Amino acid sequence: MSAEVPEIKYLFRPRSVAVVGASGTPGKIGYSLMSNILSSGYEGEVYPINPKGGEILGRPVYKSIEDVPGEVDIALIAVPASLVKSVVQSCARKKVRFLPIITSGFSEVGNIQEEREIVEIARSAGMRIIGPNMFGIFTAAASLNATFGPRDIMPGGVAIITQSGALGIAMIGKSAVEHVGLSTIISVGNKSDIDEADLLEYLAEDGLTRAILIYMEGVHDGPRLLSVLKHVTRVKPVVVIKSGRSKRGAMAAASHTGSLAGSDEVFDAVMRQAGVLRADSIQDAFEWSKFLASAPLPQGRNTVIVTNGGGVGVLATDACERFGVKLYDDAQRLHEIFDEMTPSFGSTKNPIDITGQASADDYVAALKAAAEAEEIHAALALYCETAVFDVNSMEQMIERMDAEFRSHGKPVLFALLGGEKIETCIAGLRAKGVAVFGDVYSCVGSLGALYRQYEFRRRPPAEVETASIDVSACEAVIANALSEGRNFLLAHEGRALMEATGVPMPKSRVVRSIGEAVEAAEEIGYPVVLKIVSRDILHKSDAGGVALDLENKGEVLDAYQAIIHNAKRYKPDARIDGVEVAEMLKPGLETIVGARIDRTFGPTLMFGLGGIYVEVMKDVAFRALPLSRWEVMSMLQEIRTYPLLLGVRGEDPKDIDLVVDTLIRLGTLLLSCKEISDIEINPLVVYEKGEGVRSVDVRVLLHNA
Ligand code: COA
Repeated sequence: MSAEVPEIKYLFRPRSVAVVGASGTPGKIGYSLMSNILSSGYEGEVYPINPKGGEILGRPVYKSIEDVPGEVDIALIAVPASLVKSVVQSCARKKVRFLPIITSGFSEVGNIQEEREIVEIARSAGMRIIGPNMFGIFTAAASLNATFGPRDIMPGGVAIITQSGALGIAMIGKSAVEHVGLSTIISVGNKSDIDEADLLEYLAEDGLTRAILIYMEGVHDGPRLLSVLKHVTRVKPVVVIKSGRSKRGAMAAASHTGSLAGSDEVFDAVMRQAGVLRADSIQDAFEWSKFLASAPLPQGRNTVIVTNGGGVGVLATDACERFGVKLYDDAQRLHEIFDEMTPSFGSTKNPIDITGQASADDYVAALKAAAEAEEIHAALALYCETAVFDVNSMEQMIERMDAEFRSHGKPVLFALLGGEKIETCIAGLRAKGVAVFGDVYSCVGSLGALYRQYEFRRRPPAEVETASIDVSACEAVIANALSEGRNFLLAHEGRALMEATGVPMPKSRVVRSIGEAVEAAEEIGYPVVLKIVSRDILHKSDAGGVALDLENKGEVLDAYQAIIHNAKRYKPDARIDGVEVAEMLKPGLETIVGARIDRTFGPTLMFGLGGIYVEVMKDVAFRALPLSRWEVMSMLQEIRTYPLLLGVRGEDPKDIDLVVDTLIRLGTLLLSCKEISDIEINPLVVYEKGEGVRSVDVRVLLHNA
């Protein structure tokens, strides 16, 4: 049974901290924790706990947590694994609020049962656990460094949540070198109780946190994480690095924390869906979070590049294309704005090339003009070291321009390329929090991250869209299959399911006489296909049981007789159940649509091009349900071959609305019928606008009864 849970604010603003396993021996984790806490400026109560008693670093030691006189908001646990359970029990008696358990040796090494028992004890006493197998917490809100990592942590606007402890400790060091100020850094370790979603809910509201960086190895509760992320990214940027991208990486991650890395494609898609920026490297993640924590969100997409070198301008232009940064291209306005400070042999076409002879004054003039021009929303300022520019004045000039852009609420980023003096200048400016980079790619990459955040914030609020489908008819089909002990549907059941879901199939009827065959063909419309229906004939074509492309009554009459004759000759004792008369499909664009229960994120949709060639093309997009119509549409737009749906080389556009409609119907079916684990239509043939789609082959799998 769970008792009421404590408010998470006491984790980030604790009034008192106990260290169970505090030690007076330097080099021990229990010593480092005490020493960091006492030197971090924390003003709350600090209680070292150790059965030996005495004093540690001048603080009186309590033999048990139960002897502590006041309330305890956080008790860090750093005793050997074999003692953790009894310590948790005494914390439960003491009614501690949060238990960050540093100790390793639980689910990450297969000791799952004991970890569960500890969580159970904590939950039933109204306590919450972070970890085990974590390094502690730093929280700027309480000036508290309760980690056994580096002592000095610069306070600031970036919150870091990390699953890996060792990497987290390394990130503390890196944050100091990179001058990234932290509002908090907390490791979640094995995530036995508190996970990223719990912390994100708090950080979304936290006044100190302006950007959030998460290092993740595995996801425990995908649907909850997604729903929290969707909310957080509307108010703050979230950058995620997730290991387990390669197959080998996934194995390492699994054995590292005992959690299984989910399928990377789905993870990637779901993060994008939630507006999360996924970084490939820690370097990028740091650059982005630092920049996003302090940059103003642009008011529009028009970016200008101001450069003194043509080559570096071209490099930046390429990078803009790669990172989705749009260059302002109104040649006339650009000329009006920048002509005055651009020599005749320079260029006012974006990139604005003020040439190698540009002085600090020319830079200032060009950047001021960009900051003041209403139609320009962001600027990239590039500089290659030259002898005509006094590098000594550069630092001051860049600071002034940074302030100028800030006063206009616009982002500006600098990339400086050159020798030692330039490097010193970069280091000095970075320490002051100016967005200065030593290379063009990371400079433009950071602006790209800001623009992805901008695009996400502009998305329409997601209103979930569902279709009206005949759920009871679907359930009846499924119940019948399950009653026969099957976890898949037969062809006619799949067809019935699609009919009840409103997904168009090729028109078809099973008939038992030649007269009925002609009647059916006329009703369906020529051309038609005839196929033998017999439970004793599996390979219809081998038996001569299929006739394609029948154009008229005469051809149907002949084909009917031939099919029956062939079937009887092929297998004289075969039971003939009838003949199927079906619409002969004309060729169209072959796509694949799927709906399945993902192991991590639950119900998901897939869309791709290529039909039967999908495995080769690997051009697919995923989303987690539920979805708005706009989000479903964005899946189609995401695949590489989306232009084929728009129609290429004079083709008419395809019936995109009907594809979206089919995906929404499949999504509704998956969410309505909990017995279904997988539905796949392959191919779903898409015709020109107004002519719809046809589901040619549908496969449905059920959860094992
Ligand atoms: N309550 C409080 N303190 C207790 C105790 C109890 N019931 N029982 C023992 N202690 C004291 C010990 O006496 C010792 O203090 P001392 O130095 O004064 O003797 C202190 O707790 C620590 O116990 P010790 O046996 O010395 O263990 P340790 O310091 O060598 O290791 C851990 C303890 C938690 C650090 C270790 O078990 C561990 O898990 N290490 C890995 C940590 C890690 O990497 N975590 C993940 C980070 S990302």
